[in-house]
Amino acid sequence: EIAFYENKFVDINEKVVPIQERGHQFGDGIYEVVRVYNGQPFLLEEHLERFQKSADAIELVLPFPKEKITAIIDEGITRSEMKEADVYFQLTRGIAPRQHNYPECPAVFSMTVRKARPISNREKGISVITLEDERWLNCYIKSLNLLPNIIAKQKALKNGHGEAILVREGIVTEGSSSNVFAVKDGKLYTHPATKRILHGITRAKVMQLAKELRIPLVEKEFTTDFLKNADEAFITSTSAEVMPIHTIDDTVLPVDRPISSMLVEEFVKLYHHH
Ligand code: PDD
Repeated sequence: EIAFYENKFVDINEKVVPIQERGHQFGDGIYEVVRVYNGQPFLLEEHLERFQKSADAIELVLPFPKEKITAIIDEGITRSEMKEADVYFQLTRGIAPRQHNYPECPAVFSMTVRKARPISNREKGISVITLEDERWLNCYIKSLNLLPNIIAKQKALKNGHGEAILVREGIVTEGSSSNVFAVKDGKLYTHPATKRILHGITRAKVMQLAKELRIPLVEKEFTTDFLKNADEAFITSTSAEVMPIHTIDDTVLPVDRPISSMLVEEFVKLYHHH
């Protein structure tokens, strides 16, 4: 495991963040998580593009050219000597005496490379609970402010579930750290890429795969009832990839999952050849 803070590589346990860092005082920053397969960062360009979008959305300016992020990540992966890892990187507004409005200071970039958790139970899938989506209305920004997400995840895991599915005014938005898909009558459904969800990189890849496989895709809002009546359902994320859902609250979904299985298989092929 390895870490990088501001301008140098550090030990992951080293205490490096100053008291007045806006990342921890305000959650004033943005982040990305990238999966490393066989020593290679997967879909890094897409993650960097979203990182830039999040930065622009809150008027954060990168302290160095974008190419340097790639270089830091590459060096981090090399230094970590890991083949299967998660790269976490973030940008905060920097270090300045505490004030709410934006201070004049350089943004601070940091990164960690850590061992990836292996994906378990993909055959069986996970159970999920539905919870009220209590987040703000700019969920497309990959903000450091994750309190509603971690509260939801905690409730789910404490009760033995694998994910919390968030519902806003009856509409399924996304998971606490994933996007949600449903399959009904051979069609694939997912929430449209509005401000109410994170535009997942895995979500976009799965949609692309569906098109290639000629699975009809419907980017449209759906209700909790629709999800519970689905033929299949799954979540997507960088760390979970494509993970089937077997139970939603008390509703058990069919065990046969032809479309999910096909998408899992095709998704794994994307990085297997790396
Ligand atoms: N989760 N929605 C939310 C709220 C998320 O936090 C994430 C990512 C996703 C999926 O996005 P992507 O496919 O780009 O990882 C959707 C973290 C990074 C994860 O579990 O890996």
